[in-house]
Amino acid sequence: MVDPFVSRPAPKLVFGNGVLRELPSCVGELGVSSVLLVTDQGIVRAGHVETARSLLEANGIPVSVYDAVQENPTESDAAECCEMARGVDFDCFVALGGGSSLDTAKACNFLLTNGGRMSDYQGYGKAAERMLPLIAIPTTAGTGSECQSYALVSRDDNGEKMACGDPKALAKTAILDPDISDTQPRQVAVQTGIDALAHALESAVSIRRTELSSLYAEAAFRHISRAIGDIIDGQVKGDDRGHMLLGAALSGRAIENSMLGAAHACANPLTARHGVIHGRAVALMLPHVMRLNAADPDAARIYDRYSHILRETVTCSQTLIDWVADLVGRIEQPGFTANESEIRKLASAAATQWTGRFNPIPLKAEGFADLYRSAFAMLEPA
Ligand SMILES: [Fe+2]
Repeated sequence: MVDPFVSRPAPKLVFGNGVLRELPSCVGELGVSSVLLVTDQGIVRAGHVETARSLLEANGIPVSVYDAVQENPTESDAAECCEMARGVDFDCFVALGGGSSLDTAKACNFLLTNGGRMSDYQGYGKAAERMLPLIAIPTTAGTGSECQSYALVSRDDNGEKMACGDPKALAKTAILDPDISDTQPRQVAVQTGIDALAHALESAVSIRRTELSSLYAEAAFRHISRAIGDIIDGQVKGDDRGHMLLGAALSGRAIENSMLGAAHACANPLTARHGVIHGRAVALMLPHVMRLNAADPDAARIYDRYSHILRETVTCSQTLIDWVADLVGRIEQPGFTANESEIRKLASAAATQWTGRFNPIPLKAEGFADLYRSAFAMLEPA
């Protein structure tokens, strides 16, 4: 029997080497006439902003540029972008960059069209007014934000990440061009790549999974598993970037139609309290969460199916969990020590994370504390 579900909207995907050149026609088909391009300084230095601007201007589309996106944008960062946007005449956002550029553009869209503060939109569906169309052009394969209706923005006071979602915030179009995803530093590619893998694996077993999200998660896993080992080893081959970029976008669709789980619930407090980069925090926790989840018969069956996929994609006979643990063991781990009192604080913060409620094995604070203990036991002291 197939459980009932309702699919969530999805952006049009434009995928392929060199498809950035399709940007003017993507703008044109939205019936808009001018663009605010939201990006960061790294993307400016890589030359992609000038390429995008030239393409648009050559087609008679005026472009304004906000190039001050900060990593892990805060409420203040979103407000600053919005202040600039208020002084500019435009009717379409183009977000060009990593997850932070996409989050900043979405957050700016909430504030510009609906007013207030980002905390007003924490949760889902709280924007009453229409929002401007968004074209997302990710240059890192990771967050899958290009396929999600949420902006992740940190609170100014305590660094807590707020997920602010609305169907109107979803990109109309996502342009996935592997040619412009090759300028990120290797460590960034590794951290964001592992995060994309975790998105596929957590959404695959989430209790919110549907027939559709399961298809997206499995397709994402097929692509990411082919390439992530090369990305980690710094031996990127021909199609690896394409596999990662497409896999990350499909993972984003899987999350949009499902949810995440305990690895993300554990990772968020590590980032908020200790500044551990999101991808590293997720990687640290993922194998331990998967070992726990394997006690759930449905999750175990799904992991088993994914172990078989590995035989096709990387001709590997390891089980899925051993393969993930092996991958994580090959990346740089955060230097870290946490005493028992800090573990309890982390665990109680993890227990309040919305995403943790959808893990196949239900967890309370003591369960999260056990996960942290087993993960930290593998780390070298800072
Ligand atoms: Fe993530």
